[in-house]
Amino acid sequence: MRKKIVAGNWKMNMELAEGLKLAESVDTYFRSKPSKAEVVLCTPYIHLAGVSQILKDGKVCLGAQNCASEPSGAFTGEISPAMILSTGAGYVIIGHSERRSYYHEDNTILNRKTRLALSTGLKVIFCCGEVLGERESGKYFDVVKNQIENGLFNIPAEEMNSVVVAYEPVWAIGTGLTATPEQAQEMHQYIRGLFSEKYGKEIADNLTILYGGSCKPSNAAEIFSKPDVDGGLIGGAALKKDDFTAIVEAI
Ligand code: PGA
Repeated sequence: MRKKIVAGNWKMNMELAEGLKLAESVDTYFRSKPSKAEVVLCTPYIHLAGVSQILKDGKVCLGAQNCASEPSGAFTGEISPAMILSTGAGYVIIGHSERRSYYHEDNTILNRKTRLALSTGLKVIFCCGEVLGERESGKYFDVVKNQIENGLFNIPAEEMNSVVVAYEPVWAIGTGLTATPEQAQEMHQYIRGLFSEKYGKEIADNLTILYGGSCKPSNAAEIFSKPDVDGGLIGGAALKKDDFTAIVEAI
């Protein structure tokens, strides 16, 4: 049975002390109350080393929200996958819609980042999703197909067990609008089908596909109940311990 995952994406929120405090409360919660899902905290870079110490020997995993596309060298301001791994983090989010739109990260660069992160030993949470206009004009399947084909389909089959896909309709991110459970299921099933065609049924069946976009305690259970939805990538609600743990409990 494929792995369920709930990952919190803190985005650019919380100064160091606040972040450590939140990590501590989430860590304490899951040490005493193990969850059915793997729980991942994707923090800003500056929190990684400190949060890693807090999560050590516990149940919660750690991830970054981005990484460089080059392994090392003269790239001022960049953070390599090896640096992320060296903090104790095991995951990295790649291709979040905010990276695609505000920082102009295209499929070529995202594929480069993905390949480097995987070869370094990180697991990748690869994001895809359409904007509102693409949903309304009915192009959403093609958009997601293009992101996945160009972002992931040159990854060797043996590395696919380190890939998690997050479907995040951009119109639902931080807007309070959520895809209906049926819309999420329809797209997740479509994505699994793409992987089945490319890599075969076994890899597709084992692929964890997360939903992201205004996931809250009040809607998580219904979305997670869909057969092809294997958990969530949680933004705003991951900044509050009670909301985040309630979403994890909804699995
Ligand atoms: P949101 O963000 O839950 O605040 O909509 C989700 C995400 O961007 O990963």
